[in-house]
Amino acid sequence: MSRMSIPANARAPEGLIADMKAMKTGDAAWREGRTWSMVYYGGDAHHDAVMRGSNLFFDDNALNPMAFKSLKKMESQVVQMTASMLNGPESCAGVMTSGGTESILMAVKAARDRARSKKPWIRRPEIVAPETLHVAFDKACHYFGLRARYTAVDQNGQAVVADLEKAIGRNTVLVGASAPQYVTGTVDPIPEIGAIAQRKGIPFHVDACFGGFILPWLERVGVDLPTFDFRVPGVTSMSADVHKYGFAPKGSSVVLYRDMSYLRHQFYVCTDWPGGIYISPSMQGTRSGASIAAAWAALMAMGQDGYVERAREAMQIADRLRAGISSITGLSVRGLPHSTIVTYGSDDEAVSLYAVADQLEASGWSVDRQQNPPTIHMTVNTTNGPIVDEYLGDLRAAVETVRANPALAKEGGAAIYGLMSKVPVKGLVKQSVLKVMEQMYAPGAEDVDLESAAEDDSWTGRLLERYGDQVLDVVDRVRRRLPGRRGR
Ligand SMILES: Cc1ncc(COP(=O)(O)O)c(C=O)c1O
Repeated sequence: MSRMSIPANARAPEGLIADMKAMKTGDAAWREGRTWSMVYYGGDAHHDAVMRGSNLFFDDNALNPMAFKSLKKMESQVVQMTASMLNGPESCAGVMTSGGTESILMAVKAARDRARSKKPWIRRPEIVAPETLHVAFDKACHYFGLRARYTAVDQNGQAVVADLEKAIGRNTVLVGASAPQYVTGTVDPIPEIGAIAQRKGIPFHVDACFGGFILPWLERVGVDLPTFDFRVPGVTSMSADVHKYGFAPKGSSVVLYRDMSYLRHQFYVCTDWPGGIYISPSMQGTRSGASIAAAWAALMAMGQDGYVERAREAMQIADRLRAGISSITGLSVRGLPHSTIVTYGSDDEAVSLYAVADQLEASGWSVDRQQNPPTIHMTVNTTNGPIVDEYLGDLRAAVETVRANPALAKEGGAAIYGLMSKVPVKGLVKQSVLKVMEQMYAPGAEDVDLESAAEDDSWTGRLLERYGDQVLDVVDRVRRRLPGRRGR
């Protein structure tokens, strides 16, 4: 293996930029609208303004707010604008983070530490939430030593409030719900959950990482939504990502609390480090000035009218997709149609959704596969507008191909995803996925080929080879008798 070293001599910028452009050629074709989620593009003029503003702070560091007062001011203004958009009270306080995951990590950590000071008898802190809550909460529990209790959702993907209420116990330090959840784009019944949380005196976080910068505008153009923000009295914290529908580049989100009595538990202070007294509002130490400046520039450059227009347009595209998918025999749209996430599944045993996904990929679409049950997920943006008809045409053809060739359900990606999602012993799946990760991050590993990595992996390969259909069928039958739960 020849390991790469830093070039001995400086390279001229022209050459290295040319190399970098060449490296991009195999990446997701989001500009052509063939990718869902990942990139939220506010248009060329917006992009230019944000980049120019952000570049002014390219080298600056928000670690020390005394040194870069401009960044402190911009962060505070981004937080104020987000709080105002989400109808936070005047007391609403928060910080900017690097993204949705960090905002969620912070909300969970703050809830844990608040409980430590107010309910010191809690030894095993828990969060209670519908099973569709974003996996970042699971990660937070994993990192910070909490347990997650997940409760059922109904056929629309909305939290079953009675189940959630029953799951709240003496160890509950936080209730969580989504506006909307990622899986089907459904907004949980926030007012009902808020009333329970308030009655029981438990903090309630609404994850609006996805929806924070679009639901307010969808509501304004008349989309029928549950009240999802600080207008609900029981809501004590929220997360909203500027790097999604706020149209800022990656690296910015806001975590907000109803007042400082919650936020203070997020802060970290060390008073006896030889390097001096150290304070930190969030996970990071050094913080990118460019990200804060970009978020500020994005909000200013877009304005409420710009957000409303983009939200309206993205929703029209999502509605066209929903209507088109519903007209294809064998497929149906999941979740409530009140957001710009479009999720669909198959209702027909003769149409393996994972095989449909393989066909779409072969036609050059990027596909987000989900599990339990198998669905395909699309986050819709204005960039997807021009390709709606082409996508629906390819999808219709993919369904016909799969229906005519049942063997496709047992080949390629369909076989692997099918097996992974059906194996009831999740520990085995986890071991297998960890092995794939080890391959991805092995010294010198530069390319990623998940499917062949999974095929190479010993147990998946052996299981597929030896048992194939039988395993899937037996597991399927067992599964139908088990209550639905998030396996982890
Ligand atoms: C509802 C929801 N919460 C949290 C996140 C995590 O955000 P990030 O990927 O920025 O960490 C996402 C990402 O898609 C999301 O959709």
